[in-house]
Amino acid sequence: MNKKSLLTMQDLTNEEILELLDDAKAFSYSHCDWQLPVSDQVLTANLFFEPSTRTHYSFVSAEKQLGLKVVDFNAETSSLTKGETLYDTVKTFESVGYQLLVIRHPQDEYFKELEGINIPIINAGDGKGNHPSQCLLDLLTIYQEFGHLDGINVLICGDVAHSRVAASDKEALERFHANVRFAGPKEWEREGYPFSDFDESIEWADVVMMLRIQKERGATLESLNDEDYLAKYGLTKERYSHMKDHAIIMHPAPVNRGVEIDTDLVESEKSRIFKQMHNGMLVRKAMLKKALGLEPFAREEHE
Ligand code: CP
Repeated sequence: MNKKSLLTMQDLTNEEILELLDDAKAFSYSHCDWQLPVSDQVLTANLFFEPSTRTHYSFVSAEKQLGLKVVDFNAETSSLTKGETLYDTVKTFESVGYQLLVIRHPQDEYFKELEGINIPIINAGDGKGNHPSQCLLDLLTIYQEFGHLDGINVLICGDVAHSRVAASDKEALERFHANVRFAGPKEWEREGYPFSDFDESIEWADVVMMLRIQKERGATLESLNDEDYLAKYGLTKERYSHMKDHAIIMHPAPVNRGVEIDTDLVESEKSRIFKQMHNGMLVRKAMLKKALGLEPFAREEHE
């Protein structure tokens, strides 16, 4: 596996995480006036084996803004349908000249099958395992709000058992000394994740992060309809009124409006949900820069 691959948050030191966040901020200040020097020769492909809107198209946006040549892969019209393995599919991209791959796959730690690949891979999400680009955008959003992570109280609520966001965020937030609590249905508790009373924790939290029910990973609660779920485990207007004045709402999205969050709260004063999406494009630019080992430069200096 190429050493520049970005597969899990554990692959990154705290210093590297802070560098990525600084780069993301720099991309924010410079808007689109930055470009990688040899980008005209860099060919990248996005291999999404699972549906995605934010991650997929913010990687495309980041790649195009950096001036990379981008190809999107369609699993349904590929030779996967003829029985080709994931490894052989990825090795094919390497063999025909691609220099970086962004991959999302429903299998936990799919990348363990790709040890023999020599070009960098950025993990855009593996099963319920890891979602490093989402984690970085979440860290950036919290930093922008509070200026630090140390001592920030983060409540993550909902389908924790099936959430790669919960897994990556817990690991990284705790490394930066944030306090992380979880809440949600008993059925979706996860070993090693400290669960607490939702209503009590709403008043404790600086960040309330709601999670989607991940039905595609087998999450079901037969006994509850959407309305009941919102009342019991969702962010209602009543619970919103108990949040601290400075507290913010986050959600990795896609959002099931009216299920894990009242639809009127999605763009409420405390919500940073769409800001998270913008930050996603910025951190993905920073990840591409790191994986390609290239330094950005101000475009006008070279014109
Ligand atoms: N948050 C997230 O990963 O969204 P997508 O599934 O739309 O990429």
